Order: sequence, then C-alpha cells, then structure tokens
Amino acid sequence: KTSTDTITLPWASDFHCHLRQGAMMETVTPMVEQGGVRTVLAMPNLTPPLTTAQMAVDYGKALKLLAPSVHFILTLYLNPDLTPEEINKAAASGITAVKMYPSGVTTNSDWGVVDLKMYYRTFQAMQDNNMVLCLHGECPSDAEKGICILNAEERFLDTLRELHKDFPRLRIVLEHATTKAAVECVRSLGDTVGCTITAHHLFITVDDWAGQPHHFCKPVAKFPSDRDALREVVMSGHPRFFLGSDSAPHPRKAKQGDKPAAGVFTTPILIPLMATLFEKLGCLDKLEGFISTNGRAFYQLPVINSVNSEPITLIRSAAKVPDAFDVKGMESEGETVVPFMSGKELAWKIKT
Ligand code: NCD
Ligand code: DOR
Ligand code: ZN
Ligand code: ZN
Repeated sequence: KTSTDTITLPWASDFHCHLRQGAMMETVTPMVEQGGVRTVLAMPNLTPPLTTAQMAVDYGKALKLLAPSVHFILTLYLNPDLTPEEINKAAASGITAVKMYPSGVTTNSDWGVVDLKMYYRTFQAMQDNNMVLCLHGECPSDAEKGICILNAEERFLDTLRELHKDFPRLRIVLEHATTKAAVECVRSLGDTVGCTITAHHLFITVDDWAGQPHHFCKPVAKFPSDRDALREVVMSGHPRFFLGSDSAPHPRKAKQGDKPAAGVFTTPILIPLMATLFEKLGCLDKLEGFISTNGRAFYQLPVINSVNSEPITLIRSAAKVPDAFDVKGMESEGETVVPFMSGKELAWKIKT
C-alpha cells in the first residue's frame, strides 16, 4: 500500500550479505533489522572460510545471538572438502546454499575454484538435495586472455550457461549482476536460474568508484548503459531478479589504505535506500517484489504478507545517513565503518 508519505512493506529479505566475524560481526549484525531486513543470506568468506557443515551451523548460532528475530540462511564456501557426503550433511543441518568464488577475484577468495569439473559430483549432490549454488560471476583478470575487471563478469557468462545446461534442475543464482550482458543472459535461461542485484549497483557507475574507495567493490560498477539495464529489469518486476545487497563492511582504515578493500556497506540503510531509489525510478509498485516476494519464491521460503507478519512502515522524512559507525569494542582505536551515502540524505526512513 502506498500513499504520498507512508509505505508499508513486509520485512525484507536480503539474499547476499557479509556479516563478518569478531568485532565487525558484532557491529553489523544488529543493523540488519535496522535496515528493514529479517531474512538474510550470510556469506561464507570468513577467515578461515566456512568449509564444513559444522562451521556454518556454529556461525549461524553466533549470528542468531546478535539478532534473535532475524532468520539467517547459511552458506558454505565451495572447496575440495565439500564431498557429496558433506553436502548431504549440510542439507540435513538446514544449510541452504553453497557459494562459488573463482580463485583470486575478491576478498578472501584465495581458496576459490580453479577447475569447475572437479566439483561436478558436489553439484550433483546439491541438485539432489535441492540446494542453491550462488556464483560470484567473475573470471580472474588475465592479461593474456584479455580479461580485466571491466569484462570479468561478461566473460564468466559462458560458465553460467554451461552449469545450467549440465545441471538444469540445480537452482543457481548469479550474484551481484552488474552488466547488461548478465541481465540478458539470466533472462534467457530457465526458471532455475535467478539473479541478485545490489542496492549500490543500481546507483553507481565506473566514475563513482574510480578514486573513491568507499564505492569500490567487486564486481566493480560498470557503464551507465549497464546500470540502466539493471534498473530496467528491476522496473519491469521480473520475478527471477531480487535483492542481494552484497553489503560488505570493511574498517575505514582498510578502505582508505594503499590498496582499498573491496566492498560497499549498505546494511543499516538498505530498505530506506531502496525506497528512495524506486520512488525516483517511478516503480514503487515493484519494491515489494524485489525486496521480498521474488527472492523468497526462488529460495522456496514462505511468502511474508500482512496476514502472517507485521509489516514495516516507511515514512517520508529526510534522514541523514551517519558519516560512520563505531566498530564495537574498537572505539578507543577510532575504528569505524563508513556506510554508502555517508552524510547524504535519504527520502524515507523506517518508522520505529
Ligand atoms: C525464525 C526464528 O526466530 O527462529 N526467525 C524468523 O523467521 N524471522 C527462524 C530462524 O531464524 O531460524
Ligand atoms: O566487494 C566485495 N566485497 N565483493 C565481494 O565479492 C566480496 C566482498 C567482501 O567480502 O568484502
Ligand atoms: Zn561475490
Ligand atoms: Zn559478496
């Protein structure tokens, strides 16, 4: 329901989020709900990565203590120890998904995949257990093959097509799509292929991250024409495209150092940010699908509606995004984490 100054929505679902460990986990996990989200798929690229069912189950318990009303969807990091037996165990433990990182493409991806065929028995077991394969869809940069961060996603799409052809019943999500080519590819594939889009990639392009470390993330934001394609598919309400924020907090010092860490942090402002954008795009009627219905259908989770769950209310009220948040327990060291839109105003805020 929409009137001029309130929007009611179901609590949102974020199908791709980095909640970290230690002090950063304690800082950002309670912010999930603040951002309007109560279902969140937690990424496994910790140090060490979540490589076994037991590790993921323990991580889920730690998260739940920090945000008791949030439902956490747990994931494993694809690695050679994920045998079909371990996949059976993971499925029995309620773990939903496995994330594949090609080796060397982003934060903590040193353990990532080199040869996909090596994992075909694992994928078969995942398909048999109705698990989801989440893809970090970028090829590693390689000067000889002409691959760099601007075409790394497009060059990955053949791998997506091949996986879908070989495992047509395996649900696959191309994560954080940033290009027109990726949108067209996902559209062309079957119902078992979904696609997440981040909040920040609906805003920024190359010009916004070149020289601005707080906008630097992997995959990098691309051309204006790519951003337009992301906006268009969202505006169309296509059911296989849904929100995965890829919120990826790093300490300010890591973002502003000599080699800035990749990641944009949107968790605490996520749904007000989405409402602000969808209003600007004139597609507020597609917001609920994008932040809740579409992703929940793909992940086979129950629909959340006004009958079975209390909604959230957004009110039109110019709200300044904080410049930075203190990292819990590290205040004395001055460690902070800087959100997307830091110091800027959003048009909507969540009524508390
Ligand atoms: C549930 C809970 O609180 O246990 N939460 C929810 O659906 N919001 C499920 C869960 O988190 O496992
Ligand atoms: O920008 C990113 N940051 N992209 C990723 O894929 C990983 C993430 C992180 O964990 O920091
Ligand atoms: Zn990724
Ligand atoms: Zn990510």
